[in-house]
Amino acid sequence: MAEALNGLKRTIMCGELRESNIGQKHVVMGWVQRKRNLGGLVFVDLRDRTGMLQVVFGEEINKSAFEKADLVKSEYCIAIEGELVKRESPNKSLPTGMVELKGENIKILSESQTPPIYIKEDLDTDEMVRLKYRYLDLRRPDMQNIFKIRHKAAKIVRDFLDENGFLEIETPMLTKSTPEGARDYLVPSRNYPGMFYALPQSPQLFKQLLMVSGFDKYFQITKCFRDEDLRANRQPEFTQIDMELSFVDMEDVIELNERFLKKVFKEILDVDVKLPIQRMPYKEAMEKYGSDKPDLRFGMEINDITEVVKNSEFKVFKGAIENGGSVRCIKVPNCADMGRKQIDKLGEFVKTFKAKGLAWIAYKENEIKSPIAKFLTEEEMQGILKEVDAKVGDLILIVADKNSVVFQSLGALRLEMAKKLEILKDNREFRFVWVTEFPLVSYNEEEDRYQAEHHPFTMPMDEDIQYLETDPGKVRAKAYDIVLNGEELGGGSIRIHDTKLQEKMFEVLGFTKESAWERFGFLMDAFKFGPPPHGGLAYGFDRLIMFLSGTDNIKDVIAFPKNQNAFCPLTEAPNVADGKQLKELGLSLAEKNK
Ligand code: AMO
Ligand code: AMP
Repeated sequence: MAEALNGLKRTIMCGELRESNIGQKHVVMGWVQRKRNLGGLVFVDLRDRTGMLQVVFGEEINKSAFEKADLVKSEYCIAIEGELVKRESPNKSLPTGMVELKGENIKILSESQTPPIYIKEDLDTDEMVRLKYRYLDLRRPDMQNIFKIRHKAAKIVRDFLDENGFLEIETPMLTKSTPEGARDYLVPSRNYPGMFYALPQSPQLFKQLLMVSGFDKYFQITKCFRDEDLRANRQPEFTQIDMELSFVDMEDVIELNERFLKKVFKEILDVDVKLPIQRMPYKEAMEKYGSDKPDLRFGMEINDITEVVKNSEFKVFKGAIENGGSVRCIKVPNCADMGRKQIDKLGEFVKTFKAKGLAWIAYKENEIKSPIAKFLTEEEMQGILKEVDAKVGDLILIVADKNSVVFQSLGALRLEMAKKLEILKDNREFRFVWVTEFPLVSYNEEEDRYQAEHHPFTMPMDEDIQYLETDPGKVRAKAYDIVLNGEELGGGSIRIHDTKLQEKMFEVLGFTKESAWERFGFLMDAFKFGPPPHGGLAYGFDRLIMFLSGTDNIKDVIAFPKNQNAFCPLTEAPNVADGKQLKELGLSLAEKNK
């Protein structure tokens, strides 16, 4: 039984009705949250995207409407006509709780099977089921709220950038591999059998071309595609707020984006972001927090105790230092009494970051407990305690290794301890930091070559260009990341616009002239025609929405996301292609994939 509207028009949304509307006739439409039959009265909680409204049907009010209302079940889609009256038993927790609609007419627009998931806030149901029935999951008010925030944020982005002279310009989805360093998604070409488009990992090269074209200030809210290992804050297709500006230096990009962030957080969360946002060179971030995206909401910084133990006979420390590494630690307050088993678990934890072990010192009231005490002289032990300014109750956790391992493991351990000790529970702070002075390149040991840290078009810092050929690892880049509460929200750089410097950069990265030309020739060609100095930045829009809506799961902010294995349980993509399609594309499957 599905009735047509037959000219019936909605006059107001459910969530909008208030006491000031009492006495008015209204037509509302939506879904049945709940129906209760209390003998002579039927109550229906009607839900639309603005909220919930109680509707009451009674034999006295309208007998046929009353009887029909009794037929509805959860998630039926209905229309109701009636008069708004004061509610006898108000519900203060509902914005419409002071009023109710007296149902005089009801249309059942469509029926619903019993939904496989509850349509309610804070649903705790298996994610596969939620994703399979995503259209129902999205009916839930908390999900709808996220998409209202997402819409509002996108509008603020567009308004802000428009006011600041930016043009929104779209760039291709079917394109050539872009240099963001992840695996590409490929699309086979029918016109050119055996050839492939790559879906863009970002609009990077096109936005630089737009600068050559003289558009001056470009932005786009656009999809990017990266085939990489997924995590809580990563999806294979995600959205960037991407921007590029001509005739600017890093300060200009930062200044604009600070104003932008201030506006978004004010308008959506009423949070005042203090400007200027703190800056921290990459080196400091690594040394203090073991991460290029430091969470500055709490302390427990990393201490370097290499100097103190540099002459130690303890083979673990000695070996690490001799190999060019270091000995560093974090100091965890009020944990000196932590049990042996728990500390061993921390040891296992750091091993997942390639640390070989975890040494510890518990500074107790009357004793110092440590499995490495026997390997250290009294002077060394006291030296460590002094260096970290240890107080009674402190637990000192030490890793000795090459620096990359020390930073990674202690950086992760610092976060793990904060989680264990619930230091950030109920923390409502937003701690922004610009991380700057990134290394331009890093050494890839597996491939025995330097690789771009950001991408190959990033400009070196002026004072470091001199080391580009002799000591590339020492060169810092004009690159910057905006980090919020330990997450990378966005990143960008000033670009190389000088062909000679670009060629040198490719050389450092081990590209031959031909291979560089093959991949990026069109950009290098364009740069022969008066490219302006330019630079830009891109935010992970989904990550921004995660902060604005208070979720730590990126899937919550994407209407139709993929699961952890890049699979869509709703549409069941990816899926097989039929033989005819493959043939047209000039493709055949390997035997094992058939
Ligand atoms: P980058 O690679 O740092 O820079 O990407 C910019 C921002 O995009 C977000 N992000 C992601 N979000 C969700 N899922 C993913 N798989 C994912 N990968 C990245 C992050 C990141 O900070 N073209 C450059 C920008 C530039 O130089 O202007 C770029 O893409 O929040
Ligand atoms: P071992 O002599 O190997 O038993 O190590 C003695 C102590 O040092 C143990 O508590 C180990 O967990 C710790 N340890 C081992 N390797 C490291 C390392 N690379 N950094 C810090 N502590 C370590």
